[in-house]
Amino acid sequence: MCGIVGYIGQRDSVPIILDSLARLEYRGYDSAGIAVINEQGLRGSKSVGKLARLVSLLHDDPLHGSIGLGHTRWATHGRPNDVNAHPHLDCSGSIAVVHNGIIENYAELRERLKAQGHRFVSETDTEVISHLIESHDKGDVVEAVRRTLAELRGAFGLGVISSKDPSRLIFARNGASPLIVGVGENEMFVASDIPALLQYTRETVVIQEGEMVVVGSDGYKLTSFEGAPIERKALRITWNAAQAEKSGYKHFMLKEIFEQPSVVKETLAGRIDEDYDVRLEPELGSIDDELLRSISKICITGCGTAYHAGMVGMYLLRSLVGLPVEMELASEFRYGDPVVDPATLVLAISQSGETADTIEAAKIAKGRGATLLGVCNVVGSHLTRLDDGTLYTRGGPEIGVAATKTYTAQVTAMILAALHLARVRGTVPPQRLREIARATSLLPAAVDVVLNESDRIKRIARTMSEAQSVLFLGRYINYPTALEGALKLKEISYIHAEGYAAGEMKHGPIALLDRRTPVVAVVTSGHVREKILSNVAEAKAREAPIICVAHADDADVADIADEIIPVPRVDPLLAPIVNVAPLQLLAYHIADFKGCDVDQPRNLAKTVTVE
Ligand code: AGP
Repeated sequence: MCGIVGYIGQRDSVPIILDSLARLEYRGYDSAGIAVINEQGLRGSKSVGKLARLVSLLHDDPLHGSIGLGHTRWATHGRPNDVNAHPHLDCSGSIAVVHNGIIENYAELRERLKAQGHRFVSETDTEVISHLIESHDKGDVVEAVRRTLAELRGAFGLGVISSKDPSRLIFARNGASPLIVGVGENEMFVASDIPALLQYTRETVVIQEGEMVVVGSDGYKLTSFEGAPIERKALRITWNAAQAEKSGYKHFMLKEIFEQPSVVKETLAGRIDEDYDVRLEPELGSIDDELLRSISKICITGCGTAYHAGMVGMYLLRSLVGLPVEMELASEFRYGDPVVDPATLVLAISQSGETADTIEAAKIAKGRGATLLGVCNVVGSHLTRLDDGTLYTRGGPEIGVAATKTYTAQVTAMILAALHLARVRGTVPPQRLREIARATSLLPAAVDVVLNESDRIKRIARTMSEAQSVLFLGRYINYPTALEGALKLKEISYIHAEGYAAGEMKHGPIALLDRRTPVVAVVTSGHVREKILSNVAEAKAREAPIICVAHADDADVADIADEIIPVPRVDPLLAPIVNVAPLQLLAYHIADFKGCDVDQPRNLAKTVTVE
């Protein structure tokens, strides 16, 4: 999730843009840049690294101009470096573009533009936008942008300035990349997030999906991409800066839980084609179809939440690909004589790409000749420099220490990997794969439905906040869901919690149960539903309070459960994406009731870079 700012007015835009970008620093980024228009034309500066480096560059080589764009980049396509930083220019150097999101069809556009003689300098998808505007520029930049928007596919927020039309900023939004206009006195501001505007104005106009805005110092014109005028009054923002950074949510963790529908959508973007075939080739590097057909085993490794996402992947790969799949905690993999060889595909999962145990496990796997596929959220991180190919999750920066949206993004990546591998190896009829892929594309909406249950979950959480111990139960592909729910609860509320395979209850844990030990069970549709239902009945017989994640119309569950958190029916293979959200919210509300530091739990770090 990149940061975008724009200014046009009577003042020098440079200090205003830098200050606005600084207000977006909390989101995390890897490079920053600025472009302005002045009497010399379009000028800019950009660099990898923090804003401070850009400020130093501007100190040595000052810029000024009453109209400008600024950007902080969270890399999705192309490593973090100076060249890939935004803004990106066209060949003539008269058009500058900043962008947030994914241009799904950038590869074909890039090839077409190169054939027309456009020269590209970066590895980014963004650069095709500036060249495409140039190719459509017949003297009216606004019209050229409209024609460009008609060709772009994907979710994006973008900003454009041109030295050929120095009196206007142009912005457009398609999908979940926010853009807000700030209305000042004879000056206008645009930003991708409210904190960047608050010190200048509280009068704001949200640009919605499929809309474009042309901003001059005296006002703005909002239209559809096609040009149909749209009327929208400014709204006054009452948040303070801290509230604005969390978009009004009480904690970053809650904001990130609610970002999950758009994160799943972003992670899927461009990876399921129009026929509902999953195609990951362009991004898997040397891990091509031939190699994927040659492997005889898969080993998945990671830590904490990443490990749980990998476990969901294990069930998916076993079911759809039919290969032996081993799970190994990275800290165990390192010292446990792992049996991997050149016929093994090792999936190393890490949100940060910097977790020490996962990095070392990846090195050992490589050292034994295995093919290493990294599943990572941070472009250019250590793991992505070790692996043979990276399947990026597009979770954006996750501020809360407890992983939520990045877990969902990792599970989404597991679904994509399993569908891709099954197609390449021909282990499942194409029609069945397309059914699953189509159902996968509907998951964002399913997660949205579950998030609407937050108030019910908050009420249930209040009844659990005094518990000393909680048991989470799941079976099959929801066993990792139970593990993840337990991890969330213990790491942010400090209540002891265990995730267990429900079939294991009678082998020990059932001795724990009494009326003081709540049991949270995932009882959704699938071949193990009856089995887990009987495990829940056993727990009920021990007077344990029973909370079920289940379907609203499941009468059997209603007969047993004290509380039901309803979730929609989805393909059982995809259920973990939907079923984890209630458990995240349960942990969040319990921790919040207890007054715990939800975003920064005690003893924990966001990234464990030491053993
Ligand atoms: C999960 O909420 C924790 N933040 C932790 O278990 C985390 O998943 C683990 O440290 C792995 O981090 P990584 O994904 O960055 O490698």
